[in-house]
Amino acid sequence: MESIPFYPVNDFGPLMKGMVIGGIGILHVFLAQFAIGGGLLLLYFERGKERSFVDGYFQYLVLVSFVLGALTGVAVWFVTIQIGARTIGLMIDRFHWLWATEWVCFAVEVVAGYAFVRTGTRLSDRARTRLLALYAAAAWASLFWINGILSWQLTPDGAWAGFFNASFWPSLIFRTIVAMTLASLAACVVINTLDIERARRAALIRRAAWFAAPMLAMPLLALWYFAVIPADSRSWLLGGSIAMTMFVAIAAGASLLIGGYVVIGLLVKRLYINGATATLLLALAFGATAAGEFVREGARKPYTIRGALYSTSLTPADVAELRRTGATAADPYPLRDAARYPSDQLRRGAQVHRALCDACHTINGANSIIELTRTWTDDQLRLNIAKLQHTKGFMPPFAGNAEDVEALVQLVRWERAGRPSRFIAETTDLAPIQQWLDEAGTR
Ligand code: HEC
Repeated sequence: MESIPFYPVNDFGPLMKGMVIGGIGILHVFLAQFAIGGGLLLLYFERGKERSFVDGYFQYLVLVSFVLGALTGVAVWFVTIQIGARTIGLMIDRFHWLWATEWVCFAVEVVAGYAFVRTGTRLSDRARTRLLALYAAAAWASLFWINGILSWQLTPDGAWAGFFNASFWPSLIFRTIVAMTLASLAACVVINTLDIERARRAALIRRAAWFAAPMLAMPLLALWYFAVIPADSRSWLLGGSIAMTMFVAIAAGASLLIGGYVVIGLLVKRLYINGATATLLLALAFGATAAGEFVREGARKPYTIRGALYSTSLTPADVAELRRTGATAADPYPLRDAARYPSDQLRRGAQVHRALCDACHTINGANSIIELTRTWTDDQLRLNIAKLQHTKGFMPPFAGNAEDVEALVQLVRWERAGRPSRFIAETTDLAPIQQWLDEAGTR
């Protein structure tokens, strides 16, 4: 029991915790990828002797990606330690120096970026190109490092302590192309704000559109990614979990529309794109990024680190341990307004829910347990909770004893009854629950 660390937790109800970190993470990923693609795009334009455009675009890049990107980046850390302290702790232990390396790259990116904003217009061509190249290289390198750490969570095996894991290369190349596409679409927005004549604008747009042409490789990269992820994750994406399948479809559909517009519209038909349309495409790209990130995070369930740590911050060994001791025996943190529960059993149920369910569920809000089980009988609840990993493959095994299951069932009954101040629990025989727990095992 000593070995299971308990961290202070926060409750974000009616939002579920997974959604909170997911939402902030998606926004951050979008901004960060824009910054990375932006660096590469600027280098490409600078080499094409488009200085005035580069200077104009850089102002936007710095404003959006440095300010908002940095704010959301800090927010990610801040929320992560309130939701998955153990996961992030394990990852920092594992990738200590790699993570430090990523931060160095990020620091170089920021310093080079600010140096360019302050001095870019006064520098020689050669110095400008070098500074931009430094900015672009550092930004892309930070993606290189963080991508290894993130893809390790889903496919933790590979060379160099898992860093060059199975999904490392497809997701690195995929993200690089996404970053280039975002930068190219943002460039089309910015070009439309410049005070230049239309022919010149059209030429800049064509140049920007070429930068998004690698999108053509995206379907192949997506297939490669699908091929290397674990089979159970793949089966959810391909219909096993319809919510995820729909998100995959949305991400693919939105990417196809953007790619079609860029390749057929801008490159083949040489269409002109105005600021409003470019903004719309950028918004569509945000939708595709959000859907894609949702799927990537979701595919990892029930783990935050596949095979090693469940979304509940428990290891498989901890689950076996808590089966014996009960889920709440060593949890040192009090419930928020514990007095509203009319009995100790309900308080225990609430603690069990906090420890084992609320990473992915709320009682009454998002992915609400009450809604999911609205039509269930009490015994159905007992059976399905005791055999949680069989109820749905993306839930971890129940990490508590028969009393914990019963406490949770009574909590659900009490919530369904509208939280009465007096509540008489049914007395039940715990033996069948114990038998179901034993049958389900802890794997
Ligand atoms: C790793 C995330 C995760 C954890 C932890 C988790 N669940 Fe779930 N659970 C899900 C998802 C995702 C669904 C599917 C929701 C849907 O189908 O809309 C689900 C579905 C359910 C359902 C409905 C099953 C069905 O067949 O319709 C119940 C009941 C349930 N969970 C109870 C629990 C309880 C009780 C706990 C804690 C002991 C728990 N879950 C822990 C992710 C999780």
